Amino acid sequence: MAEEMFQKDETLRMRKRLIGQSCRLFFSDDPVKIVRARGQYLYDENGVQYLDCISNVQHVGHCHPAVTQAAAAQMDLLNANTRFLHDNIVRYADRLAATLPKKLSVFYFVNSGSEANDLALRLARQYTGNKDVIVLDHAYHGHLSSLIDISPYKFRKLEGQKDWVHVAPLADTYRGLYRHDHPDPAQAYADTVKNLIDDMHSKGRKISSFFVESLPSVGGQIIFPRGYFTKVAEYVRAAGGVFVADEIQTGFGRVGSHYWAFQLQGEDFCPDIVTMGKPMGNGHPLACVVTTEEIAGAFTANGVEYFNTFGGNPVSCAIGLAVLDVIEKEDLRGNAVRVGNHLKDLLKQLQIKHPIIGDVRGAGLFVGFELVKDRVDLTPATEEAALLIRRMKEKYICLSTDGPWENVVKFKPPMCFRMEDAERVTEEIDLVLREIQDASLQK
Ligand SMILES: Cc1ncc(COP(=O)(O)O)c(C=O)c1O
Repeated sequence: MAEEMFQKDETLRMRKRLIGQSCRLFFSDDPVKIVRARGQYLYDENGVQYLDCISNVQHVGHCHPAVTQAAAAQMDLLNANTRFLHDNIVRYADRLAATLPKKLSVFYFVNSGSEANDLALRLARQYTGNKDVIVLDHAYHGHLSSLIDISPYKFRKLEGQKDWVHVAPLADTYRGLYRHDHPDPAQAYADTVKNLIDDMHSKGRKISSFFVESLPSVGGQIIFPRGYFTKVAEYVRAAGGVFVADEIQTGFGRVGSHYWAFQLQGEDFCPDIVTMGKPMGNGHPLACVVTTEEIAGAFTANGVEYFNTFGGNPVSCAIGLAVLDVIEKEDLRGNAVRVGNHLKDLLKQLQIKHPIIGDVRGAGLFVGFELVKDRVDLTPATEEAALLIRRMKEKYICLSTDGPWENVVKFKPPMCFRMEDAERVTEEIDLVLREIQDASLQK
C-alpha cells in the first residue's frame, strides 16, 4: 500500500480546506505526517522514526500483527448485522467478564467512548428514575451533547452548567482542596460529594449517577486517594444513585497491577456501571458498557429495543479478542508495572535535580509529571511545558500535556513501551529542562 498520496504541504493545504478546523492536529504549528507505525514507533513520510509516548489507543502496539490478522481473517469470512446470532460477541463478552467483578455481567457493545457514556447515562436514569448527575471538576466524558453537559472541561467553555449537573472538586492531593498533608483526603473529598447530594435534596432534586474517570486524564493524570470511591459509592447509593466508572482511558491493564483502574481503590470496591473504549480495539472503533443484571433489567423493562448498527459486530469482536490475547501472551500488564515503575523512578530522580518538576505520579503506564514555577504556590509552568513538548518533538519523541493549566506532561504509551524507551525519553527531558533553566537564568 502506498505510504503517501500527496506531498506533506499538499496534505496540509487540503486538510485546512476540507476538514473542520476545530479538529486539531498534534503539534499544530508544525504537524508531523505519520505514514506507518509499529509497536511504540511512528514513522513520518521520510522514514524518520518517532518514539510514541502518547498513543494509549494503540494499546498492544501499533499495527500488532495478531490484531491485524484477526481483523483481516474475520472481514474475509463474515461481518453481518449484529441481530444475527454469532459466536464472537458472546466469546468476547465472556472473556471480558472474566476480568471484572462477578456483579458486572451484562454487556452492551458500541463504537466509541462517547456512545458508551451516553448509554451509561441512559441506563442510570432508567434504573434510578432520577435525572441529576454529579461529576468531578475538569472531567471529560465525551463529545456528544449529553456528555458535553457532564464534562466541566468542555461546558465551562460553552453554554455552561445545566441545572441537573453538579460539580464536585477534583480529588487531587497535589494541588486540590485537600492535599498529601491532610490526615484523610479520601474522606474529605467524599464529604464534598455528600454535601452536593444534601444540597440537591434540599432543592427537591435526586441523583441518578456519580460519573467519574477512574483516573482523570485531561484533569492532569490524577491518582485518587485510596478508599475515595468506596466512600462516595456509599453516599451515592444511599441517595438512590449509581456509580459509573469511566475506564475509557484507563482500562485493559494500563495501570499494570490491575486490569481496571477502579480496582486501585481496593478489592471491595465495585462500580454499578463501567464504560470502556479507546484501547479496546487497538485503534478499531470498539467500546462497551458493562453493568449489573438489575440495571440491565430495568433498561429492558422499558420495552424499547437498543439497536446499535455496528456495536459488537463479528469483526470488532474478533479484534477485541485478539487484543485480550496479546495482553496476556505478552504479559503487557507485567510490562506496564516494570517499565512504569522504572519511568517513575527516573522522573523522580529528575525531580531532585530540577525544581520545576513539582510532582511525579502515576500507576503502571499512566504517568504524569507536573511543571511548576515554584513548589510553594504551585504556579503552573505552562509555557515551559509547551516548550518541553516542542523540543522533545525535535528530538523525535511525541509527548503531550494535560491538566487545567496544560502543565502536566503525560505518558500513556502503547503498552509495549520498553525500559530503553523510558531511559531515552528521561535523558532527553533532563537535557531540555537544563536548557530551559539556563535560558531563564540568562533573562
Ligand atoms: C475519559 C474519557 N471518556 C470518554 C471519552 C470519549 O471517547 P471517544 O472519543 O471514543 O468518544 C474520552 C476521550 O478522550 C475520554 O478520555
